[in-house]
Amino acid sequence: MQPQLSSEPLVSYKLIKLHLIAAAIALLLSMAAGFLYSLQFLGYYPWPDSELLAPGHIRLIHTNLAAYGWLVNGFTAMTYYAVPRLTGSKVLSEKMGTLIFAVWQFALLASLGGFLFNRAQAIEWGETPTGFRPGTFDLNWIPVDLIVVIGAVLLITQFMVPIYKAREQKFYVTLWYFISGFVWLALTYLMGNIIPEWVLPGAAGAAVTGLFIHDLVGLYVTPMGWGLMYFFVPLILKKPIWSHSLSVIGFWGLAFFYPLGGVHHFLISPIPDYVEYGAITTTLAIEVVVTTVVVNFFMTLRGKWSALRTSFAIRWFYAGAVMYFITCFQCAFQVTWMFQKIIHFTDWVVSHAHMIMFGTFTFWLFGVIDWLWPRIVRREWHSTSLRAWHFWLSVTGIVVMFFDLMIAGLVHGFMQRELNHWTDIIDMSIPFWWVRTVSGAMLLGGLMCGLYNMYATAKSDVEYVEENHLIPASAD
Ligand code: HEM
Ligand code: HEM
Repeated sequence: MQPQLSSEPLVSYKLIKLHLIAAAIALLLSMAAGFLYSLQFLGYYPWPDSELLAPGHIRLIHTNLAAYGWLVNGFTAMTYYAVPRLTGSKVLSEKMGTLIFAVWQFALLASLGGFLFNRAQAIEWGETPTGFRPGTFDLNWIPVDLIVVIGAVLLITQFMVPIYKAREQKFYVTLWYFISGFVWLALTYLMGNIIPEWVLPGAAGAAVTGLFIHDLVGLYVTPMGWGLMYFFVPLILKKPIWSHSLSVIGFWGLAFFYPLGGVHHFLISPIPDYVEYGAITTTLAIEVVVTTVVVNFFMTLRGKWSALRTSFAIRWFYAGAVMYFITCFQCAFQVTWMFQKIIHFTDWVVSHAHMIMFGTFTFWLFGVIDWLWPRIVRREWHSTSLRAWHFWLSVTGIVVMFFDLMIAGLVHGFMQRELNHWTDIIDMSIPFWWVRTVSGAMLLGGLMCGLYNMYATAKSDVEYVEENHLIPASAD
């Protein structure tokens, strides 16, 4: 089904706005926490003696707010726009939407409190508190994991109802991605937060944790991000995607190969070699799947290249797609045993995490916000130069951060292999960490330009006029 551009009240702008505002606050706080944590590496952390604000707590706040505060709220906002448009039906209930919003933000706040008061669950990326003393059913905090599962079930119901109503129609690929993203999110979350601690401790639990980390990013963030790109790019360019078949191949490739690659987070570990081989092979298959998506996006832009000049949204999307390609190229190396021996436990992995979560998925969300925000608040963008500052500071900052940490990781890895002393490795890393902090300040500066611009736009007197924003049928 073709996405439509019209303004009937199918879509709840109130819910989109709520989730976007929460997402923006979460990103700002997450980046501020990342910036503070980066100072710890330089010996300038402002509260070295505070137990409450210990750097380890701040790191948890940084990563969890980026994932659950920014990405999940951002994707939910966009889904509130896309699903009714693609199905022709409203979501189940606006009241339930407000409840879901409240439940999700409560879970986030309870997690932040849990991190500060030492109640994090000791599972990588599953740190959201279970609320129970480990291994028992004695409550020692708010049971966040349970609340998240309730929130996720409500969210899935909210969106699955309009999708179910449209079951007679031929689904556009975005809906396939969304359905799978919802179902996988719930299953993945339960798996990662319950099995390693309660059912399978030890190396088997670590294998499941690897699967959990990987599935969270690959079976929720990736399908939601791809689904949004497949919806918004054709909508803005006013032309269909280049190949529907390729988009469907991408979907089934993701569904089939992605879950099997989780163990690549723990290569050269006590996990049996044949399992590691399997993970490496399916990860390489995923590289092919990602390539189908990137090719599809770029072929869609054919004949409309000038949109890169005229539309900030398209600029964000395609800058994100280029970074996607770069970091996936990097992943193809990092997943091999040869590279793992060098780069595991180094800043190389941190460079990958930032490039993909910020350079790709955050850029895509910024693209959607750039296109959607004036339509939500019915005002023209307050300042074009602030939009440009946001874009260029973000691009420059993330490119610098990526190469800086990748090189730091390589040098670290080789020094470690040559059995250099640990303190020499730290001395070598400090200039790279300075560059990381400076590039982080650029990202933060860019974000502040973007957020101020959103605020000033909402307050502006200049009414939004749709005709001023249409990309001509033949833009080149
Ligand atoms: C102001 C900009 C930022 C700075 C200065 C910054 C800094 C940091 C630092 C210092 C770490 C810890 C690295 C380590 O433990 O060795 C980290 C981890 C991480 N950050 Fe950021 N960050 C920033 C923005 C972001 C954004 C916007 C996202 C996501 C949207 C993000 C996602 C992550 C992730 C996923 C990790 C965990 C990486 C891993 O465990 O391998 N960061 N960041
Ligand atoms: C082409 C697809 C991808 C491949 C091949 C890939 C590969 C890898 C590998 C091999 C690692 C482990 C590195 C190590 O610890 O030595 C890793 C870590 C990581 N990846 Fe990816 N990745 C992909 C996509 C993504 C996506 C889409 C995201 C996020 C949206 C992501 C976020 C992360 C994060 C946060 C880590 C660090 C995890 C930790 O804290 O240990 N990756 N990736």
